[in-house]
Amino acid sequence: MKNTVVTMQQAKERGEKFTMLTAYDYSMAKLIDEAGIETILVGDSLGMVMLGYEDTLSVTMEDMVHHTRAVARGAGNALVVADMPFMSYQASVYDAVCNAGRLMKEGRAQAVKLEGGRKFAGHIRAITDASIPVVAHLGLTPQSLNAFGGFKVQGKSEEAARGLLEDAVAVEEAGAVAVVLECVPAKLAELITQKLHIPTIGIGAGAGCDGQVLVYQDMLAMFGDFKPKFVRQFAQVGEMMKEAFAKYMEDVKSGAFPALEHTFKIDDDVIEKLY
Ligand code: KIV
Repeated sequence: MKNTVVTMQQAKERGEKFTMLTAYDYSMAKLIDEAGIETILVGDSLGMVMLGYEDTLSVTMEDMVHHTRAVARGAGNALVVADMPFMSYQASVYDAVCNAGRLMKEGRAQAVKLEGGRKFAGHIRAITDASIPVVAHLGLTPQSLNAFGGFKVQGKSEEAARGLLEDAVAVEEAGAVAVVLECVPAKLAELITQKLHIPTIGIGAGAGCDGQVLVYQDMLAMFGDFKPKFVRQFAQVGEMMKEAFAKYMEDVKSGAFPALEHTFKIDDDVIEKLY
C-alpha cells in the first residue's frame, strides 16, 4: 500500500521507527522501494553526489523536477518527498507556493522539504494551505553553509539549543508534517522528538528520533569524497562496483566477453550470401 504522510505520523504514534533514504533516479527508487523503505527523499544532495558540485547551492528547480519525476515512477509504495532547492522559496511566500506546486504537479512528489525554522513559518503555512505537505529541515541546513561558515554540528550552546527547540515548535505550529534534524546533539534531538507531535527524522541526530534518513551513496560507500561521522556503511558497494568494472574490462580485452550466450544468431545460408 502506498505510504503517505499519515503513515509517518501513525508510526510515531505507535512508537515504531521508520526509514527514509535518498534516491535520484528510477532504478534506485525501485530497489529502495522493493526493500520496504517507507519514504524516499529526492534530496538536493543530488547536486553533490550525482552532479559533482561542491555544495547544494547550484541545484535548480529543473534539476529537482527532473529527478523527482524519475523517482516517483520507481517508488511503488514509498512516500516521495522532494527538496526545495536554494532560492526556490527563500525570496517570497509566492515563490515558495509556486515551486512547491511544481514539485507536486510536474515531479509527482507527495510532499516537499525546505530548510528553515521560525523565519519560514509563513512559507510553511502558505504551502500547507495549498494542500502540499511540508517537511521542515533544521540543524545543519546545507543551503546555509556560507552563513554557518562550514558543515558544523548545530545547537550545542544553551542559546542555540533553545533556538532549535523554538524552531521545531514553530514549524509544527505552521503545519509541517515532519522535521528533519541534521547534525544536532542526540540529547537535544531526543528532547525535540518528545516535545513535538509530528515525527522527527534524524541524520546525525542520534537514535532518539522517530525515523532516520541517510544518503544512499554514503550508506553504500559509493561516494568517496568524504565520510561524515554519522554515516554507517552498510555495504561496500563502491568497491564491488569498481571490481565489476575492472572484471568487465579484463573480459572484454581477453575475449571472454561477450560469450556465445550473449550473441544473436543468423542462418549460415544468409550470411554466406554476403561474402
Ligand atoms: O539533500 C538531502 O539529501 C538531505 C538529507 C541529507 C536530509 O537534505
